[in-house]
Amino acid sequence: MAKKLWGGRFAKATDPLVEEFTRSVQYDYKLAEYDIIGSLVHIQILKNAGYLNKTEKAKLESGLKALYSAVKDGTFKPDLSCEDIHTDIQNKLQAKVGDLVMKLHTARSRNEQVVFATKLYCKAGLMKLQEALVDLDITLCELAAKNSDVVIPGFTHMQHAQPVYLMDYLMAYGEMLKRDYDRTWVAAKNIELTMGAGALAGTPIDAAKYNVDVSGYIKGNKDLRKSFKLQPTVNSLDSVSDRDFVIEVLNTAAIIGMHLSRLSEDIIIWSSKEFGFISIDDAFCTGSSLMPQKKNPDVLELVRGYTGRLYGNLMSVLAMMKGLPLTYNRDMQLDKEPLFDSIEIVSAELAVLSGLVKGLKFNKAKIEQHLEDESLYATDLVYYLVGKGVAFKNAHTIVGKLVKYSIDNSVEIKSMTERELGKFSASFKKSDIVKLLDPKTSVESKKSLKRG
Ligand code: ARG
Repeated sequence: MAKKLWGGRFAKATDPLVEEFTRSVQYDYKLAEYDIIGSLVHIQILKNAGYLNKTEKAKLESGLKALYSAVKDGTFKPDLSCEDIHTDIQNKLQAKVGDLVMKLHTARSRNEQVVFATKLYCKAGLMKLQEALVDLDITLCELAAKNSDVVIPGFTHMQHAQPVYLMDYLMAYGEMLKRDYDRTWVAAKNIELTMGAGALAGTPIDAAKYNVDVSGYIKGNKDLRKSFKLQPTVNSLDSVSDRDFVIEVLNTAAIIGMHLSRLSEDIIIWSSKEFGFISIDDAFCTGSSLMPQKKNPDVLELVRGYTGRLYGNLMSVLAMMKGLPLTYNRDMQLDKEPLFDSIEIVSAELAVLSGLVKGLKFNKAKIEQHLEDESLYATDLVYYLVGKGVAFKNAHTIVGKLVKYSIDNSVEIKSMTERELGKFSASFKKSDIVKLLDPKTSVESKKSLKRG
């Protein structure tokens, strides 16, 4: 059985059922590199405070750096019999530096250790998401630019509404991704790295000794790295029991997931035979074991499906936190799996969607067929009448009647005579009406957009 970080007060060995039930190393090993960074920071503080001399610090540092390299090159194997990753790292460090390791835990508690490591995990995870969000956004922009002349029917209530440029449709998702990017930024900035909480009550080390620069350990965006400045805790009770940052990351992931799910749903619908707007590259579809003709958008369905997990992860941590008295309670250990899960799901979704979107091909002929539906231009006819001085509400009623007449009598508006049109409004001029029943004319008549 692996060594624990506690035990002196116990007269009996822990029941194996308890060991098993309380263990978290099987998932919190993902915090290994961040826990090691936490220890590297902590030994600088201990040195500043006079608890470690130069040689001791150097010895611990070289042991920790060796462990860090092992994590980075994949040779670090978590000991699954340990209680958690913090215990495992301490034991592994002991194997390298001997009993000097006993000094490492001076003025330190896992309650704080776990917060520090999880905060670093969150910051790094958010930075990864930012890169992936930018990638997908660029892919959408490129697809939009390649198809800048394509007009498609726009929908409300899943019914034909008005024609819109495909590029505007795609860039609507670009707008969502931009807001997502901003949310990742804010979530990362909100994460304050603190030490000095101890288990809950603070430590005997003077706050001034916590003036340690952490940014050197962190790769990535320069501006964000500035927020990696370590600060002495302002309120140690809050520091060890705050999980707002986890919830903000889960919230950010849930919203990204919701956006990706909507994009997926649009692509699923567009790729159906009924719509036929697009074809998805074979490399991003799957087949059926029974029906040989099938080419299914499973990737998109999984993106849609995972959204449930992302919401669930957010809800599980919100619910887990809601009744907890101050300060640390073991319940909080249960924030890890949802957190890791959400970051991993969203990263994978962004990567696979970027590949899929790159390979989308639009079927212009089929889209044009859909654009023949004259009801798409009804609103343009209303604006036409308004331009002739008819009040909007009256124009709306006139065109409503015209559309109904066209449906009831199976006659296209564009083939109606001037006299027939005149029955609805004296202001209708056939040659004008025919020009208005056109996708390009329709989209070009909209002047209110200030495209980015
Ligand atoms: N594995 C624990 C967690 O993730 C670490 C903190 C344990 N602290 C304690 N007092 N038992 O929350």
